[in-house]
Order: sequence, then C-alpha cells, then structure tokens
Amino acid sequence: MMPEYIPNHRPQFGRLFAGILLVLIFSACTSSDNSQSTTGGTTGGTTGGTTGGQVDGPLGPLPNPPLTAAPSQDDEPIAEPASFNTSTDLQLVRNPVPRSEAPATNRYTDADFESGPLPADITIPDDVNPEFNSAPDFENIQNIEAVAGQQLEIVFKPIDADGELPGMFPVALAPGASFDDNFDGSKTYRWQPLQNDIGINAFAVTAVDSQNSLYRNTRTILIRVRLPDDETQIPNVPPTLDPIGPHTARVNDPVVYEFKGIDLNGTVPTLELLSSLPNASFSNHPLYEDIYTLRFIPTSTGEMNVQVLVRDSVDSNLTTTENVTINVLPIQAFERTGQRLRDLAAVRGIQFGYASLQEYYHRPDGGVYADIAADEFDLVTPENAMKMNEINPSAGQYQFADIDNLVAFARLNNMQVHGHPVIWHRQLPEWIETANAAELEGHMREYIHRLMNRYRDDIALWDVVNEPIGDSGGYRDSLWYNALGETYLETAFHQARTTAPNATLLLNDFDIAINGPKATTLFTMLNNLLERGVPIDGVGFQLHVFSDFNQIDEVRANFQKVADLDLDIYITELDVGLRETDDLQAQANVYASLISVCLQQPRCKAIQTWGFTDQYSFRENVHPLMFDTAYQTKPAYQAIQNALGN
Ligand code: G3I
Repeated sequence: MMPEYIPNHRPQFGRLFAGILLVLIFSACTSSDNSQSTTGGTTGGTTGGTTGGQVDGPLGPLPNPPLTAAPSQDDEPIAEPASFNTSTDLQLVRNPVPRSEAPATNRYTDADFESGPLPADITIPDDVNPEFNSAPDFENIQNIEAVAGQQLEIVFKPIDADGELPGMFPVALAPGASFDDNFDGSKTYRWQPLQNDIGINAFAVTAVDSQNSLYRNTRTILIRVRLPDDETQIPNVPPTLDPIGPHTARVNDPVVYEFKGIDLNGTVPTLELLSSLPNASFSNHPLYEDIYTLRFIPTSTGEMNVQVLVRDSVDSNLTTTENVTINVLPIQAFERTGQRLRDLAAVRGIQFGYASLQEYYHRPDGGVYADIAADEFDLVTPENAMKMNEINPSAGQYQFADIDNLVAFARLNNMQVHGHPVIWHRQLPEWIETANAAELEGHMREYIHRLMNRYRDDIALWDVVNEPIGDSGGYRDSLWYNALGETYLETAFHQARTTAPNATLLLNDFDIAINGPKATTLFTMLNNLLERGVPIDGVGFQLHVFSDFNQIDEVRANFQKVADLDLDIYITELDVGLRETDDLQAQANVYASLISVCLQQPRCKAIQTWGFTDQYSFRENVHPLMFDTAYQTKPAYQAIQNALGN
C-alpha cells in the first residue's frame, strides 16, 4: 500500500475508484517479474498504477523461473498509525514484517577460526614504496577462545620492521568494550562477552605507519565465545537504552523517539516512560519488541528532559533510568530571510536537492526536518533507504516502506525523487554476497527490474551504477566486477533502460570532477560505454570536498568534457567539510563557487547536497552542510542563495 495523503481538494471517490480498479488488476497478476507490475497495494493507486510487463530489451528475458521470488502482496507496506511518526499531512506506511538479514557475526565458521586470524588488509598510498617502507603489523596476533561472562584482556602491540612505533586504533568496539592504552606502545582490548556474543566474533584493529598515516594494516582476529558449563556464572548486567543524543525541535511539532532497549545478556527489556509529557503516547513497536515509540507535542519552548526506565526481563528489580534532552525552539527561530533555494534554482533552470535521512519521521526533529526540506528543495535522494541491504535484505523479501514514504512526501511537496543507488558495491545484503557467482548477473537484473519497475512512474532519475571506478583508477574491485567483469555496467544500464525507458540514467562517482586517475578512467569508461551504445544519459559528480577546495577550474573543465560527450551533469552529493572549525566563510565560498560552475554549464541539470543539516551528516565531525545542528542557517546558506540568485 502506498501512503496516501489526505488533500483537501482531491475527490475521495476518484481515489476509491482507482483503488477498486487496482485491486481488480492486481489480483489478476502473479508475483513473477513478467507479470504486470503495480506499485501500491489495494488502495495505493496514487503511485505507479499498473505498468507494462518486462519488455525484452537487448539483454533478452529475465531469468525464468525467477532466481528469487519477485515482490508480492506480502511485501506491500501497511499503514502506520500516526502515533508512531511525526507526519501530520501524510498517512505513512511501514514494512509488513521485520527486516530479516543474517547477522554479520554468523559470517565466520569454526573452520575460519581454526585457520587463524584473517589475512592482513594493507592500504598502500601511491607515494609509498613498500620496498623501502615496510608495512606496520602486530606482534603475535592470534584468534582467541573465550567464555561468556569472563572478562577478556587482549594486548595489541603494533610493530614496524623499519624500527618505528606505529599508531593503532580499533575499527569498532563491542558494546561495553574498551581499548586501553598501556603507555608502552601497546593497548589492551577489554571485553566481557555475554550470551549475545555466543559464536564467532570478529575484532579488527588497524596499525598506522609512523611516516605516512595513510599507510595502514588492518588485522582481524576471531573471538570464539562459548557458554560456560554453569550459565548462572554469567553476570546479569543491567539493561540500557540505545543512546540518543540531544536534538532541537520546533514548538507544536510532534516529537517522536524510537527508544531501543538493550540487554547484553540476550533478553529483551521493557521500557517505561517516567516523564509526564503533553499529548503523549508511548507504544511498543508491533514489529520490534525491543523498540518503544514515544510521541508527544511540546506546546512550550525550552529544554525538555525525557526520562525512561529500562527494566530487566529476568530480574524486575534490575533497572536503569536514562535521560534524553530536547531543546524546543519557537517557530520564529526557524524563519529564514530571502528566497527559498528551490525557487532561486528554478529561475536558473536547475533543480536544487538534498539527500534525505532514512526514516526522518521517526526522529524527534522529524517535523522541522520535513518542513525545511519541503520549503528548500525540489529533488530528493534517499541517503540510505534504497541501498540493496535495505530494499532486499534477504532473498525474496523486500522493504519498500521508506521509499514509498519518500515518494509520497515528494509528491505532496512537488519534488522529484532521485533513485540512489541501484547497483553499488557497498551495503549489499548477505544473500547477494554469498550468492553463486554464475547467477549474479541474473540477480542483478532481477533486482534492477524489481526496484525500478515499482517506482517507474515516481522516480525519473537514477544512479544506475554507483562508484564503479577504483580509488586509484580502473574498474573498482567489487562483487559485481569480479563476477561479471566490465560488462556489468552495460548490463545494468541496459536493464535499467528496458525497465524504465523514460528515466534519466546516471553513472555516479566521487573524485571524478578533479583531474586524477579516477577522472581519466571516467572518460575512458564513458567513451567505451557510448561506443557500445550503452544507454547512459549523464554523470553524477558526488563532490564531497573540504573548505580549502580550490580545484574549481578542473571541475569546470571536466564538466565540459562530459558535456562534449552529449551527457548531462548532476552534482549529486555536495558537502563541504570544515578544515578548521572557524572556516565557515571558506566553506560558504566553496559552495558558491561550485554552484556557479554548475550554473555556467548548460548541461548541469541539478545540484544536490548530501543532507542539509549538520545534525545528520555522515561527515558530522566536519560540519559540512548549510544548516547547523539546530537547523539554523550558516554562511553557506546565504552564499548558496546569492550564488543561485546572481
Ligand atoms: O541502519 C543501521 C542501524 O540499524 C545500525 O544500528 C547502525 C550501526 O551499525 O548502522 C546503521 O546503518 C548505517 C547506515 O549508514 C544508516 O545510518 C551503516 O552502518 C552505515 O555504513 C551507513 O553509512 C552510509 C554510507 O553511505 C554507507 O551506506 C552513510 O550514512 C551515507 O551517507 C553514505 O552515503 C554514500 C552514498 O550512498 C554514496 N556516495 C558516498 C556516500 C558517503 O559514503
């Protein structure tokens, strides 16, 4: 079911009729790829409607029978009660079943454990010659046997044959673990595995060359945790709340928290709301028993404290009280002078967009987030919701709710959706990573068809292949490239064109706007694809840069080289990290310069930033966006207004 908004003007009968018609059509369809596809379930109708079946393009028919089950009515999202989200003008949907993906910790087997630590993963920068500078490593690295409940202490001592002392850092720490400095060059990993950790766990630590910090060696050990003979020996640790940081909200907006209880003993705690809050509801999530949703509407401004009690499900006397804070600002605090970015851009004939936070409507500031987005942008990319491990977490299971909601939000606010990514080497689900290589082309084509077919009437712009170019140039070493070779690109684009013949199909990558090995490969790749008649319409330049970026002329020249190939240009993921915390004007200048380059290039069709508030950025530590964490404009915002307006 596609979410539907309840506009004042649309006659309900029309929608009802469309809904009945769709039910008749849908029920005639089987759930195979060659059936007529529909988007939206029995009442959706507002998106996609029915579309032609798979018309055989140059690739021939899709696998028949399908390699995995096509989306079916069982995958159709269902209405989410308003008490679970911040939306006030859309009936949102949620996935019908919990996301089920094999947990990564099951990726290692006893055989892996017996064969010892994983091979060294060494990163060698171009300016390092390993013959004269040996890679850092670790002394006596080995796999470890452990018993749940017993404190583990593993000492890591980095070494370097050149005699220096490398640095080191853990790639990730298990919950409650620490990596403590012994002040003798070594560090100790302290961890008390519990019931949750039974099985084989990986722990990775990276040694950093003392001469070149990009010269690194990551070693991964496996820690096999078993239950003790007497399970009562395992301490029952107090349950906690998955931490949620401070947020800013706007008065009279719904505030939503999804509190997640955590119990490292492997049980599910219960949560109780201790605070008295205005217009509040507090509900256990119907799909995830460890999640409780709080929704309330603050009617006054100021700092609010929300207190939640987490109760152990084995020992009811074992509890933890947690606090989260939210700063509620008056409506005026979010008012902005000048014209909205989308309106300024439209006058210049381009779109101005952003990447949308996944499930922003389940966040405390979802209300103001959505309002600013709708005001400022007319193009939206899902930052993460369309990644394959989110859309298709297990073979034959699909989770469309987040994209359905984004499509509905975009339609309500006269925005376009930018599909991202279709094929990428990251965020792949386990079932694809472990699939039979001989079937990967079929899986790839089925996935492309099923995703793009569902949204073929809602999404007209797609990153068909994301980041196919290796960091040092050449084809990126990826699951797709390793299984299918260079042709995976043309297969992907041909399938995309066959499924969505009217869509704009992009190749999207980073570090291709400046001169270097990636840009060189880009143009070789594009010429190769175009010569072979591969249906590609444009290039997405991500442009994740810093405030000292000064290669504007190279960007201008590379844009022109793409235009000379009769291809369109999109700035797809622009963000400008601060080199220094006070570099705000330098940051603003870089935004303005890059926007001007796009405006001066007729084939540049759109500019999108990768998010819009520093509250939610994958580069949060360098504050790269035009709104700060309290949704207040930064100099970059005014600079963008001026660049678009001039
Ligand atoms: O959703 C899970 C959550 O359930 C879990 O608790 C948490 C901790 O493990 O991880 C969450 O998933 C994270 C996801 O972002 C959503 O927050 C992934 O671990 C994390 O790897 C993922 O990072 C995203 C990254 O792509 C990889 O997909 C970044 O947010 C996103 O900004 C970034 O975006 C990419 C573009 O798609 C392509 N261009 C480069 C750009 C930056 O890397």
